[in-house]
Amino acid sequence: MDLKKLFGYEKKCVVITGAASGMSRSATELLLNLGANVYAIDKNPIDLPVTEAFEVDLSQKEEIDKVISKLPERIDALFLCHGIAAFPGQELLVQKVNFYSQKYMTEQLLERIVDHGSVTFISSVGGFGWQSVYKEAVELINLPTWEEAIKWYENHPKLIESAYVFAKQCLESYVTYKCMSHEFIDRKIRINAINPGDTTTGLTADFNKSTSPNGDEFEGEEMISNIFLKSWNGYAASPEDMGYPMVVIGSAICSYMSGQLIYIDYGLTSSWTSAALLTESQKSVEEITQETNN
Ligand SMILES: NC(=O)c1ccc[n+]([C@@H]2O[C@H](COP(=O)([O-])OP(=O)(O)OC[C@H]3O[C@@H](n4cnc5c(N)ncnc54)[C@H](O)[C@@H]3O)[C@@H](O)[C@H]2O)c1
Repeated sequence: MDLKKLFGYEKKCVVITGAASGMSRSATELLLNLGANVYAIDKNPIDLPVTEAFEVDLSQKEEIDKVISKLPERIDALFLCHGIAAFPGQELLVQKVNFYSQKYMTEQLLERIVDHGSVTFISSVGGFGWQSVYKEAVELINLPTWEEAIKWYENHPKLIESAYVFAKQCLESYVTYKCMSHEFIDRKIRINAINPGDTTTGLTADFNKSTSPNGDEFEGEEMISNIFLKSWNGYAASPEDMGYPMVVIGSAICSYMSGQLIYIDYGLTSSWTSAALLTESQKSVEEITQETNN
């Protein structure tokens, strides 16, 4: 079996953001090894032998519009991976970087994505519980312009208080809402997200600082470890643990997969779901188990 053919990236056009570092950099390295022509975008310089690299601040609509005009007319796979941690006072910036720019780029580039192409995002376990804001997220998603979205954010300060969480919840709502919408399904364009757990990347120090109420990196590291690692005596993932599965999801191997939020967290969020189900409806879970056993 020819593995490169199985992935289906050879000589295909791939656009990927956030490629200077972390998960997206790992994904880009694999895409290059699989023979893709990679157009990579980041606000920082990209030191990989991609077809073309663009240095762009993706929080700025004008800069996004400029780079979009330079991207190829035919795109086989789009990966949206750029992201930042949330510091106080940067709530709106986090919405723009971690969600709205990604929705905007997807929709601006959709016409260029081939039939049976793919769009894949990096969301986060931080978006767990996205269902609780789904209606608000869909209201935002349905606003037709960038400017209206910014106004919407300004009118909903409470919602964006948990800035990182809300942006990732919007991303997960977007995948769920759009997978069967006409613009995607009529042309069989697949749309999925990976939801990584704690991963050691260029963002680690910022996540640590932003998690601590005092901005103390070591306190934040301890807090993150308590939430994401302690319960399973776990360890942080590597960028490849996330970047490589993401490349698989965008590839021909997953040609029947769409609308999925793939948690890559060693099962941590499944254990949260299990605990919630057992606490809230223990009786009915027992009944279901009994029925299954009979
Ligand atoms: N590291 C983790 O523990 C973790 C966990 C869950 C989800 N994530 C998500 O994974 C994605 C990838 O992040 P990473 O952990 O690999 O971190 P990283 O910092 O190594 O990579 C993120 C990249 O995004 C780029 N970027 C940030 N803001 C940008 C902007 N305005 N314009 C253009 N590029 C910009 C950065 O320059 C960087 O190269 C992010 O969306 C992040 O939210 C990370």
